[in-house]
Amino acid sequence: MNEIESFKAVEIGRLAIEMEDAGHDVIHMEYGQPTAPLPPSVKQIVKQAIDKPVPGYWESTELRRSLAMDYKLRYGADVSPEQIFLTCGASPALVLALSAGFKPGARIAMARPGYVAYRNTVRGLGYKAVEIACGIDSRYQISLDKLKQINPLPDGLIVASPANPTGTIIPPKDMRAIADYCKQYDIRIISDEIYHRLSFGMETLSMSALSKRAFIVNSFSKYFCLPGWRIGWLVVPDDMIDAVNARLTNYFLTAPSLSQMAALEAMNNENYYNGFLDIYAQNRKLMFSGLEALGFKNIAPPDGAFYAYADMTAFGDNSLEFCKQLLRDTGVATTPGIDFDPVEGHKFVRFSYPQSTDQVETALGRLKAWLKTRA
Ligand SMILES: Cc1ncc(COP(=O)(O)O)c(C=O)c1O
Repeated sequence: MNEIESFKAVEIGRLAIEMEDAGHDVIHMEYGQPTAPLPPSVKQIVKQAIDKPVPGYWESTELRRSLAMDYKLRYGADVSPEQIFLTCGASPALVLALSAGFKPGARIAMARPGYVAYRNTVRGLGYKAVEIACGIDSRYQISLDKLKQINPLPDGLIVASPANPTGTIIPPKDMRAIADYCKQYDIRIISDEIYHRLSFGMETLSMSALSKRAFIVNSFSKYFCLPGWRIGWLVVPDDMIDAVNARLTNYFLTAPSLSQMAALEAMNNENYYNGFLDIYAQNRKLMFSGLEALGFKNIAPPDGAFYAYADMTAFGDNSLEFCKQLLRDTGVATTPGIDFDPVEGHKFVRFSYPQSTDQVETALGRLKAWLKTRA
């Protein structure tokens, strides 16, 4: 079994909580977790549900149907309810896709930088993580050219658009080219679409519309602001339904019943959730220009999500120490780039900004004053 590393964001998060418990005012930019309150109709559904017996091991047929319908309406993709598997967030969906989709020893490609769990889950399950170095020149995203350079061909490819930690989107033309290449060479795609619907202009294509063989990972943790409810889903290609079903029922059983009910009702509250997009867009503008003005470099303008991934080499080259010290001195919690990139990440910091604009302004102000003391 391969060794895997823990999230440094969690280490920072624990330190942040300790400081908060000791009375410090902490601004949490370390996790990508929107914390908006539940819309009233979701609250009502949940309150009503707990007055009745809550279903035990249960799958909401209606939620599976609604999600399948959403693929048709949003992307024009034919996805049946039988292809939708409900999970405790995107994290188990990734485990299911990897463990059902690949044989032991498979080589799975992914962008570096990329979401920390990709390389660690791939390794933890006994596969080989093939990291594709992606720099500012490609907005930290994979492209067909980069894919073609992988030799021998990988068995699988993880695609994330918008991506964590950068928020960058793979343009539709490139997405199609990647899907075609993977079809040609029998490379199974896992597309993590958890930041879909959080984009600032650029179209986000779903792999479900481009490939019948792709797994699609998604959850209610980001756009729907329900990270603590642990509810997500996996779209499973037809040839993998039995394999995923066997794994889901053995490894995880069902998703929490109340969370399934909340998620179904959340889908009826688009206007409420769309309201947050303006706040994220405003925060994005502030962060992007604010960080550049302070001397951070190589920030790819985020096309989506709520992250800015910034080169901090003007201030040192140990991102973990930088983040810890910044937190201790100012109460601003951030994530060191080493979570996302074991090679270059010591030079980068990720700022997560789904908070109020006031908090983002305060965080930038504290960062500015702190950097002055270090100059
Ligand atoms: C790209 C990406 N995929 C998956 C996850 C895990 O999400 P969930 O909370 O739905 O398990 C995250 C969480 O931050 C993420 O950023």
